[in-house]
Amino acid sequence: MDLSYILNHLGEEREHYFQAISPPIIQSSNFHFESLEKMREGFADEYSNHVYTRGNNPTVNILRKKIAALEKTEDSLIFSSGSSAIGASVISLVESGDHIVCVDSPYSWTNKLLKKFLPKFGVTTTFVDGTSLKKIEEAIIPEKTKLLFLESPNSLSFALQDLEGCAKLCKKYNLISLIDNSYSSPINQNPSELGIDLVLHSGTKYLNGHSDVVMGVCAGPEKLLRKIFESAYMTLGTIISPNDAFLAIRGMRTLPLRIEKSQTTCIKLIEWLGPHRKIEAVHYPFNEDFPQYELAKKQMKGCGGLFSFYLKAEKIEEAERFHSHLKCFLTAVSWGGHESLILPAAGFYKIPGLPDSVIPWNYFRVYVGLEEFEYLKADLEQALEKIDA
Ligand SMILES: Cc1ncc(COP(=O)(O)O)c(C=O)c1O
Repeated sequence: MDLSYILNHLGEEREHYFQAISPPIIQSSNFHFESLEKMREGFADEYSNHVYTRGNNPTVNILRKKIAALEKTEDSLIFSSGSSAIGASVISLVESGDHIVCVDSPYSWTNKLLKKFLPKFGVTTTFVDGTSLKKIEEAIIPEKTKLLFLESPNSLSFALQDLEGCAKLCKKYNLISLIDNSYSSPINQNPSELGIDLVLHSGTKYLNGHSDVVMGVCAGPEKLLRKIFESAYMTLGTIISPNDAFLAIRGMRTLPLRIEKSQTTCIKLIEWLGPHRKIEAVHYPFNEDFPQYELAKKQMKGCGGLFSFYLKAEKIEEAERFHSHLKCFLTAVSWGGHESLILPAAGFYKIPGLPDSVIPWNYFRVYVGLEEFEYLKADLEQALEKIDA
């Protein structure tokens, strides 16, 4: 389906709302049944009908249709956060005694879900090096393993999994595959085309794109989504509000433009920063020296605006000094908004009551926003000069 059609028209039934270009925010918790017949119809299929906004809402439905089309899946469900999309989807698909295989070091709250939360209910997880299909296969316990959880690329290490290979393994052992696709957005990677069953997003990142909405997505076949809907989606009720759905629809109008701009500036910054004498290494899956460059090129269309670098520095104080001189990059988690961000590993050291991070303190993750290249380059340049003794 044409990207322009999806973002500008799909799901928008303007004849129902005065031909307004921008869709209404249907801020209603419940919906009236005109007759008993309609009431029976409604309750026969809450997944499809308008009964109650915890299940279905017309503004949210526009977003569902657009996201499903972007991810090339039958349908999608929208959640109040990426974390709830992941949690509710996984919980809905396992039972006590089941086993999950997950790639090493997934997003921290996915890690906690699998390591701390699910074991309370008799569900165990084996974490494996996802760069090796062999190790993934070795971790599968036939009959007992039910899910394979992927995150490709990982949002810190950028480690990838061979998605086609993983999908084949899932067929062989009858597993459901899920992927956290937040790094790529549907613009740069469509895992369903490679055979992955469920595609999850922190929609807080690129999809909404303006750092003002927290939301999550699970896209996939209707049969699986109905299972999730009838289980944790309706039980936990972690839904997006109609108002936030409206903001996300608005944010998504410019999704391809934002990603293109962010990616173009990111590549220019990497080309300039890589050879700098104060930089030890730059990591970006589309860099030729990236260990999984070939795989990245095979299954992704681009890498967007997230990259990382290691500063050449002797002591953590030097990394701290460099960071303290940055003026244009905001220090924050997340990515995908208009603003450029920096996440210094040094900030995960010296936290009272917590162990130091395992990530080296000279690591910095950068998200390149919508600012101009020269503006961002000048900021990095002047901060690097401050440690250029
Ligand atoms: C890779 C990844 N997945 C999922 C999430 C969770 O998304 P949310 O913050 O929207 O709950 C995050 C949040 O930063 C993330 O980085």
